[in-house]
Amino acid sequence: MTSTDTTADSQANPSSYPLIQSELAGLLKGERDWLVNLANTSALLQLRLPGLNWVGFYLWRGGELVLGPFQGKPACVRIQRGRGVCGTAAARRTSLVVPDVHQFPGHIACDPAAASELVVPLEFDGRQFGVLDLDAPVKEWFDASDREGLEAIVRILLRGTDWPEDIGEPVLPA
Ligand code: SME
Repeated sequence: MTSTDTTADSQANPSSYPLIQSELAGLLKGERDWLVNLANTSALLQLRLPGLNWVGFYLWRGGELVLGPFQGKPACVRIQRGRGVCGTAAARRTSLVVPDVHQFPGHIACDPAAASELVVPLEFDGRQFGVLDLDAPVKEWFDASDREGLEAIVRILLRGTDWPEDIGEPVLPA
């Protein structure tokens, strides 16, 4: 989201990220359950970030990315490693900003309205738990400031959350 556009129905000012980060830290205080924290994180992002048509999580369960807590329309349930934007970001262990999903080979269109996408892997302490995925119905909605803001949000989430053993996969040191 660019910082130059200040209209209410358009892209957010990235200066809102520190506020969202502190709100998230407050929401997670005293609660370490993964389901609670992922549900509240997706709700907070939907509330605070304008212009999204989907935001939520896919989690490693049994060797595939399985739909987790989210806000938006019903979505694809299972994504294989290396498939789509989510599986690619997970396999490459890096965030992906996709300005036009129709130009991304293998993009998985859960909602035909989606035009751009941002995916951040969830990695902490030698494990990858899954990915955070955001979709917008406008091309080039996300930029580097969104990636940085959301990576910081993911770090707060991961520091404050305990995971069951059946979610996540070990990763080799980068
Ligand atoms: N577009 C994603 C699939 C998940 S939905 O966007 C909710 C992908 O290509 O991996």
